[in-house]
Amino acid sequence: MQLSELLSRGSKLLASVGIESAEVDAQLLAAFVLEISRGELQSKLFTNDEIADDAARKIEALFQSRSERVPLQHLTGEAYFRNLTLSVGPGVFIPRPETEGVAELAIQALRAVPALPIAVDLCTGSGAIAIALATEVPHSKVYAWELNPDSEPWLRNNIANNGSAVELVMADIANDHQLFAGLEGKVDVVVSNPPYIPAWAVPKDLEVQLHDPDLALYGGEDGMDIMRVVSKRALQLLKPGGFLVVEHAETQGQLVADLFASDGWRSISIHKDLTGRDRSVSAIKSL
Ligand SMILES: C[S@@+](CC[C@H](N)C(=O)[O-])C[C@H]1O[C@@H](n2cnc3c(N)ncnc32)[C@H](O)[C@@H]1O
Repeated sequence: MQLSELLSRGSKLLASVGIESAEVDAQLLAAFVLEISRGELQSKLFTNDEIADDAARKIEALFQSRSERVPLQHLTGEAYFRNLTLSVGPGVFIPRPETEGVAELAIQALRAVPALPIAVDLCTGSGAIAIALATEVPHSKVYAWELNPDSEPWLRNNIANNGSAVELVMADIANDHQLFAGLEGKVDVVVSNPPYIPAWAVPKDLEVQLHDPDLALYGGEDGMDIMRVVSKRALQLLKPGGFLVVEHAETQGQLVADLFASDGWRSISIHKDLTGRDRSVSAIKSL
């Protein structure tokens, strides 16, 4: 079969179920099966190469799964975050591009610490933020906490495969207080992208609704249950003058800033993401 015909069928199928990135997704799935880059695929498209039957069948099977709204990243097994390639699949939250900016704020704060900086990533998921911190600030010591046992195999693989020395604790940040023993008052930077969607606000995207773990999405009635825990834990962990940054929903900037103010944080700032939406709040622990 000709590549152009295969891709055109795939794009049409994906567009017919409402996938906005239909053409790109079709190309990425074909490139994945052919083990080439998307750029190389596009040059094959230009010369209108023939595709072997076996490869065409594999590509069409992936088009079918994607049309059933299985996330692209679950089909290829990979997600990109800053300069990392992370393994993802069922049981682990797929890292999002907007979180890269949240990680950037934590990285800048960590780089500003003289000597040996210590960071903690609460609710680490695939390990995206923690591993970015550990690899981009290589002289830092990074700890990561995660509750979901289904995320653990992905997380451990990602830590090992990216050559980072992130220290992982599988624990519930809401209840496992003893696990923080030894780090209280010693940490320079706490970062978190906790679950923050209100329980009633089920996401419309089927990829998210059906394939991201519920534990990663929902934060109780107002979405703030784990955010409240993060604020308290960060106050325990940080040194006086230490830096906290959290990701939140675009509607929650003021809510999070108010929570931090009532918990006694200072220098509270709301930051926007690249699309201009409120996306994160940072604060400093009082001296
Ligand atoms: C929105 S995901 C973020 C994952 C990752 N930090 C990222 O940015 O891609 C939230 C993560 O918090 C974890 N989580 C939820 N409740 C938790 C708790 N009580 N203790 C520790 N982790 C928790 C979920 O399992 C999920 O992996």
